[in-house]
Amino acid sequence: MSRHDSTENPFATTLVEKPKLGSYRRHLLVCTGPRCSANSDPQALFDSLGEHFKRAGLDAGALRVKRTRASCFAACKGGPILCVQPDGVWYYNVTLENMQRIVDQHLVGGKVVTDLIFHQGPTLTA
Ligand code: FES
Repeated sequence: MSRHDSTENPFATTLVEKPKLGSYRRHLLVCTGPRCSANSDPQALFDSLGEHFKRAGLDAGALRVKRTRASCFAACKGGPILCVQPDGVWYYNVTLENMQRIVDQHLVGGKVVTDLIFHQGPTLTA
């Protein structure tokens, strides 16, 4: 028997296993696409985040941060670009040095790094 039998009920919802995510305080979305970071290596930035998080104690506990790669945010300039959710903060020029500032000041300290912001969404609370 199939998981969805359209002969019985054409409006039946297909049974799909619900995905799970661990708990986290913030979610970093990092663009690793080719157009915004012509002079840098956004994949290296993304790869460094695990170590950044571990050193700052952001890999577990109340301030735990999740990271995800994105292929393009349609901004395509000034990369590496990353977005911090749910704060709605978009950072540009995220070099490894600037990433350390974002970790210390924003992700640990709760204060945005104003000079690196190029866009703010409506949910900014910091
Ligand atoms: S390729 Fe990074 S924002 Fe478009």
